[in-house]
Amino acid sequence: MNNTLGAAIIGCGSISPLHARAIAEMEDARLLAVVDIDPVQAAQAAQDYGCEWLTDYRELLKRPDIDIIHLCTPHYLHSQMAVELLNAGKHVLTEKPMAQDVASARFMLEAAGTARGQLGVVFQNRYNDPSVQIKEMIDSGILGDLLCMKGIVTWTRSADYYSNSSWRGRWATEGGGVLINQTIHTLDLLQWFGGEVSSVQGSVTTDVLNNVIEVEDSAHACITFKNKVRGLFYGTNAYLVNSPVELELVFQQGTLLQRRDCLYLWKDGQETLICEPAAAGGTGGKSYWGTGHSRLIHDFYTHIREGRRFWIDGAEGIKTLELIAGIYYSSGRRNGVAPGQTI
Ligand SMILES: NC(=O)c1ccc[n+]([C@@H]2O[C@H](COP(=O)([O-])OP(=O)(O)OC[C@H]3O[C@@H](n4cnc5c(N)ncnc54)[C@H](O)[C@@H]3O)[C@@H](O)[C@H]2O)c1
Repeated sequence: MNNTLGAAIIGCGSISPLHARAIAEMEDARLLAVVDIDPVQAAQAAQDYGCEWLTDYRELLKRPDIDIIHLCTPHYLHSQMAVELLNAGKHVLTEKPMAQDVASARFMLEAAGTARGQLGVVFQNRYNDPSVQIKEMIDSGILGDLLCMKGIVTWTRSADYYSNSSWRGRWATEGGGVLINQTIHTLDLLQWFGGEVSSVQGSVTTDVLNNVIEVEDSAHACITFKNKVRGLFYGTNAYLVNSPVELELVFQQGTLLQRRDCLYLWKDGQETLICEPAAAGGTGGKSYWGTGHSRLIHDFYTHIREGRRFWIDGAEGIKTLELIAGIYYSSGRRNGVAPGQTI
């Protein structure tokens, strides 16, 4: 029996090589096709990865040899593509955000609910060693209860980054700015660490790129979790470099600090390094994107192969979108709102 999983990638832009590389690393998976509406992009990718190329993703719907499809397309295409592919019995691994808004994400959840295939969402930073260690220390209670935490993302995106793209910087196609594209990973980690969100009060601004983008380039939020943990967040694309993401988690009996991709424990007046970037598993990704793409993709395939439910599914992916929607919504309001109240 042939146990090899056949794969395809839709969208041959900047993130697609990380997906192709992760597929190539697995013995029992094969990238059979790449798809892009731009035939030059598609043909180049096909040459790079030794597979077939297509310009219409709908051709994948009738291909019994293709089991898993990676969505590496702009945000506004994820929902429609995922629903069609799930309805055709395919497994879908979508890049973040799972959709450009909560309503579109709900269509995906609905389709996934009755589909034979699984829907997975790429939140690869959950696979970084510091993230895994933080989550284990929260769950084990080794430092007592988590009290509060903060996440800070100060990156740079130039006017050209937006002007040279047909979909970035617009509400209709990107679904937002720094929140939904760049800082979504840090918001995802905060909500994964903190648990269920009870309310969020946020504020968004366009500090630098006002004449270039419709969406925000900077945002802050105060997130209150059901367990009373308080999370503070600041994110911007208006810095002049991409700094490593900073995290701080204050527990009853110590504090965890992530700086320069290292994790430190501050306890009893002493700081100890407990996790270094070298251990974070290099996969060739830019460090500020995180290094977990290969780990997540391999894990998704393992779950498919073993018939187990992948843990970062649509229900998990929509939580961060709801949190982001809460920040946008509360930005115009005085009082914090629960994410469920936003739509
Ligand atoms: N997980 C991460 O850290 C990470 C990092 C970067 C990008 N991403 C995500 O990956 C996705 C793609 O981002 P990118 O930077 O590669 O974008 P990109 O603009 O570089 O590439 C998108 C590609 O999709 C193609 N495309 C557009 N419409 C299509 C269609 N109908 N059919 C087939 N192909 C189509 C475009 O021609 C382009 O080649 C986005 O969701 C983005 O948020 C995730």
